[in-house]
Amino acid sequence: MLLPTRRSCLATLVAIAVVASGTFAQPAARKFTIGYSQCNRGEPWREQMDKDIEAQCLARSENKGRAASDAGGDTPVKLDLQMKDAQNEASRQMAHVKEFVNARVDLIIISPKDDSLTPAIAEAFDAGIPVIILDRAVQGEKYTCFIGADNRLIGAQVGKWVVEKLKGKGNVVELKGLTSSQPSLDRSEPFRKALESTQIKVVYDADMEWLSDIAREKMQAALSRNPRKGSISLVYGANDPAAIAAYNAARDAGREKEMIFVGVDALPHEGVEAVRKGILHATFEYPNGADRAVDSAVKILTGKASDVPRKIVLGTRLFTKDNVEKGGEEIKP
Ligand code: FRU
Repeated sequence: MLLPTRRSCLATLVAIAVVASGTFAQPAARKFTIGYSQCNRGEPWREQMDKDIEAQCLARSENKGRAASDAGGDTPVKLDLQMKDAQNEASRQMAHVKEFVNARVDLIIISPKDDSLTPAIAEAFDAGIPVIILDRAVQGEKYTCFIGADNRLIGAQVGKWVVEKLKGKGNVVELKGLTSSQPSLDRSEPFRKALESTQIKVVYDADMEWLSDIAREKMQAALSRNPRKGSISLVYGANDPAAIAAYNAARDAGREKEMIFVGVDALPHEGVEAVRKGILHATFEYPNGADRAVDSAVKILTGKASDVPRKIVLGTRLFTKDNVEKGGEEIKP
C-alpha cells in the first residue's frame, strides 16, 4: 500500500485551502461581453470617452471603483469589452451593431453618429440585448437607457452668457455641429432664442459636422464674408474643437483679438486649457458619461436593471478665465 508522504499531504492541504478560499470567501466572477461602438474615435472628446469606458470596465473587473450604492453585496464581474470605431461612417456603425447581435454579446454600449442608427439599435433591443446609448439620441423607445447632458440647457446658457458678454449688441458667427445629430439642434435652438429681442445678429452660420478641419474652413468663409475689422464680435462653436479652429483661422487672418470665442465640451487638456491660455473666453462642460454607462451596464447584467433609469441626465459647468482655477462653476437647470 502506498502511504502518503508528508509533502503530498501538504500539497493536498494547500489545494483544499485554495479551492475553499476561491469558493467560499469570494464568489466566482461572472463574465460578460460588452459590445461597444464609438462613432468616431478621431475626435478628442470621443477618444477620452473610449479611454474612460475601458478604464471603468477594467476597474469593475478588478473589483475597484464601484459606486457607493452597490459596494459590498453584489457579484464580482469580469467585463470583456469589444471596442469598435466606426470612423465617422454611420453604415459602418450599423454593421457593428449587427455583428454584436450575431455574436450574442450580453450588452451593447453605443455612441451613435446620428439618429440614422435608430433601426439597427431597435433590432438589437428587439433581439433581447440591452442597449445603452451615449450622447446622441435616436428616435423612438427601443433602447434600455440613454445617458447624456442637457444640450438644450447648454444652448440656453451659452445664449445667456453671450447676451451678457456682448451687452445685447453685436455680430455673431455660429458653427453648428452635424445637423442630423440631436446635440446640434439642441445646442442651437435655445441659443438663438436667447438672442431674440436683442440687437445681436447671427451674420454667418454653417454646419461644421463636429470636425475641426471643417470648422476652420467655415470660419475662413465667415471672415472673408465679413472683412471689416470688428464686424464679427463673437464666435460660438458647438464644440471646443470648432471654437479653437475658429480662433486659429482668425489668428491666421490677424483678427483673433477682435472677437470672443465660446465652445462646449471642456475637456481638461483641450477646452479648459484653451480658456487658461486665453484662446477661448468660455466653455461649457459636456461630460461623456462613461462612468454612468459602465455602472448601468453592470447593474443591468447582474439583475438590477430596475435600478437603471431610462434616461440619465448629466450636469454641466461653465469655465471662464475668472473661475478656471477654481474648477469652473456649476450650472443649475
Ligand atoms: C464629438 C462631439 C463632441 C460633442 C459631441 C456632441 O464627436 O462633437 O465634441 O460635444 O460630439 O455629440
